Amino acid sequence: MRLQHDALIVGAGGAGLWAALELAKAGVDAAVLTKLYPTRSHTGAAQGGVCAALGNLEEDHWEWHMFDTIKGGDYLVDQDAAEVLAREAIETVIELEHMGLPFNRTPDGKIDQRKFGGHTRNYGEAPVQRACYAADRTGHMILQTLYQQCIKAGVKFYDEYHVVDLLSEGGELGSGGRAAGVVAYRIADGELHTILAKAVLLATGGFGRMFRITSNAWSLTGDGIALAYRHGVPMQDMEFYQFHPTGVYGLGILLSEAARGEGGILLNGLGERFMERYAPSMMDLAPRDIVSRSIYLEIRDGRGVEGKDYVYLDVRHLGRKLIEEKLPDITDFARVYLGVEPLTEPVPIQPTAHYAMGGIPTDLETRVTRDELGTVVPGLYAAGECACVSVHGANRLGTNSLVDLLVFGRRAGRRMAIDVKGGSMPDVPADAHEASAAELEGIRSAAPGERAADLKRELADVMMDNVGVYRDEALLTAGRARVRELRERYASVSVADKGRTFNTDLLEARELGYLLDIAETTVTAALARQESRGAHAREDYPDRNDVDWLVHSLAYPASGGPVLRHKPVTITTFQPKPRVY
Ligand code: FUM
Repeated sequence: MRLQHDALIVGAGGAGLWAALELAKAGVDAAVLTKLYPTRSHTGAAQGGVCAALGNLEEDHWEWHMFDTIKGGDYLVDQDAAEVLAREAIETVIELEHMGLPFNRTPDGKIDQRKFGGHTRNYGEAPVQRACYAADRTGHMILQTLYQQCIKAGVKFYDEYHVVDLLSEGGELGSGGRAAGVVAYRIADGELHTILAKAVLLATGGFGRMFRITSNAWSLTGDGIALAYRHGVPMQDMEFYQFHPTGVYGLGILLSEAARGEGGILLNGLGERFMERYAPSMMDLAPRDIVSRSIYLEIRDGRGVEGKDYVYLDVRHLGRKLIEEKLPDITDFARVYLGVEPLTEPVPIQPTAHYAMGGIPTDLETRVTRDELGTVVPGLYAAGECACVSVHGANRLGTNSLVDLLVFGRRAGRRMAIDVKGGSMPDVPADAHEASAAELEGIRSAAPGERAADLKRELADVMMDNVGVYRDEALLTAGRARVRELRERYASVSVADKGRTFNTDLLEARELGYLLDIAETTVTAALARQESRGAHAREDYPDRNDVDWLVHSLAYPASGGPVLRHKPVTITTFQPKPRVY
């Protein structure tokens, strides 16, 4: 089937939905296509808050938020982007409030704000209350609010359609071609749809499923990033992947940083508040890369609980009232998944793979760029976790993911609404879907071979053990060899389900291909970057090296594996300094 819309959005998380809303407001024929039901998008899993310098409880300024974002990202942040993020955070949060988002309130009726890691008053003086929140369900509320607004505005949704290819006109996306639409697989019956569009926004989220312990849902397999890459668009800064310090032990399910924002503390097996040693001023509210590394070091030195690979998150002293009002979900997670009562017991936690700082390079208007000069890929946009604008640099601050998707989702919709006016609908050959059809059929009809579930498990182990919180040359070299071996084995992947109705077996096999592409670029970029910066901690290169490595990396597809190039970091206001907390 062949369809067309002026604008097509792939992904129905916060970025995609806000873009759709802007397009609808501008009267543009826009549609959202998602492999899930929209309100199951992963934005809904964000918990603790969305930062904006509203100053509702104490003095605050967007310039302080901008500075914290840049320092938090270990100075790899593009500072013009951080300025946009911090300035526009304020108006997007107010706009959400006006859409009806049920934020927690101060006694005098303002949006309540809490502390979060790395967010400070007066350029690093002390933690500041900047995170606006709805208990520990902030992302859930954002998703519901935006979805309701989209329904009200009449946005067209293609629910449970899996994008399997990006189309272009006039050449490949990475070499001058213009985005022309997508090929999508309808999950209900396996039918392929060619959907043409003048503007295509990728808002497909991250790829935490590359790791064994992750806070990410099963759907987070990097589809948009990998598809763009396959058509020549580079992946930027892939060596920077964030581990959130507090995942449910053994499972990785997120236990919000808001617990520490409200006063919760981390304890090792000796009952020591160990963050005193690593971040004497910010302590438990240091940025995530620092806290995750500290937990690893405690465990490595034998100070995990009972000598095992976990430590405790302790909220007992916060009291029942605060916990029930402000942290209801995460305390339930501890009860349900660990059988632990947080009112009376400390909760076992371990760092969990959480967020990709890298992704599809874009400019400030969310237009995808394909080289060091910022050359735009016509008609292609990216926003949210799949994009790298870059506001997070080498390490994202807590809550800035929601800020990113709100600010840049809104910008994407506004930019696309301008760009599609008057433009012509692209055209592609009638058989544009044939390559995807052949590839899917190849997997479906393959003789019994490798099982996707086995390969995925092995990949998750390699990435966790060799490309995790701490890395070095030996680990990364071995990791790259293992990822390449898995890629070779993937060529003979097969599925047990040969049908067309809800064939999730087939789609999981396909998603594994995306994860393998991303894993290979991640390990390649991590091996190349001979320094430690933010979330990229090389034990063989323990220091940051601004002389050689204050640059973004761009990974391009090539037959022998990804090829790396570099581009400068935009520095407008804050010169790089040693990063201490
Ligand atoms: O800890 C959290 O609530 C997560 C927030 C985030 O990743 O920004």
